[in-house]
Amino acid sequence: ATALNTIAKSKGKLYFGSATDNPELTDTAYTTILDDNTMFGQITPGNSMKWDATEPEQGVFTWTGADQIANLAETNGQLLRGHNCVWYSQLPSWVSSSGFTAAQLTSVIQTHCGTLVGRYKGQVYSWDVVNEPFNDDGTWRSDVFYNTLNTEYVSIALNAARTADPNAKLYINDYNIEGPSAKTTSMQNLVKSLKAANVPLDGIGLQGHFIVGELPSGIEDNLRAFTALGVEVAFTELDIRMTLPSTAALLAQQSTDYETVVSACAAVEGCVGVTIWDYTDKYSWVPATFPGQGAACPWDQNLQRKPAFQGIINGW
Ligand code: XIL
Repeated sequence: ATALNTIAKSKGKLYFGSATDNPELTDTAYTTILDDNTMFGQITPGNSMKWDATEPEQGVFTWTGADQIANLAETNGQLLRGHNCVWYSQLPSWVSSSGFTAAQLTSVIQTHCGTLVGRYKGQVYSWDVVNEPFNDDGTWRSDVFYNTLNTEYVSIALNAARTADPNAKLYINDYNIEGPSAKTTSMQNLVKSLKAANVPLDGIGLQGHFIVGELPSGIEDNLRAFTALGVEVAFTELDIRMTLPSTAALLAQQSTDYETVVSACAAVEGCVGVTIWDYTDKYSWVPATFPGQGAACPWDQNLQRKPAFQGIINGW
């Protein structure tokens, strides 16, 4: 079998999935692969559920893009991952620059998360309720949420999400927490303190934006360290970029690296699934964000499978 979701499920996982984005959905060669739920049992909207897309002005909610992805998941028989409620980026200036008091910002978060999560109640398997709260050195990111509410914004958002959809799994999601690091320690401490305070939290998302040949060591142990705290884990945005141009050697190392990440999830019971941050280099976010780098996905620009595809199969 060469269908990635089928293999993941046969190993006891919930899904193998992909991010996607609304402009890509007019590309029928692309959607033919995306819509196959034996290949992808889960999808994540790459942009259209973010704050700037869903509440561009205070109290004005716009659902066109988000609904399209939610409907696609339902049509395809795929799980849906909500992404995201609270994040410093792609955040409208009415949130970041209005000088809200703590009480005002609390209400703004409650309204945003409650309305967003509530709209897709029953349709979303898991929500990235808080995205990227930490700096790489493990300190809290200095954004409007932290600067106004200190760490309290996390529980405000999680509680609002729980109220809006009691059955959705609620996650905190970040990068550079896939192996031991200062940031990983901070995330583990946050999990402990939220659990101790009975704040609703079900999972930690490890984004998994890696560089070929530079995976952190100890990924499997790190997954176990999180699950030992009473949360599930998932790779939520996996891609493994390289400095262009791609070569046979880089593609081979990339395949090995995909295998390593997937096999770590396969080995840990509480790792529920793996999501790649789009399946094809044609629509990867990497080249625009990391100049000179790319070729991070398991399918190439022409929607042909790369060696990484077999690496994923081997990993399961
Ligand atoms: C990226 C999208 O893929 C891009 O299209 C957009 O321009 C920027 O955001 N971490 C996240 C995702 O949590 O939301 C980001 O998605 C990639 C990094």
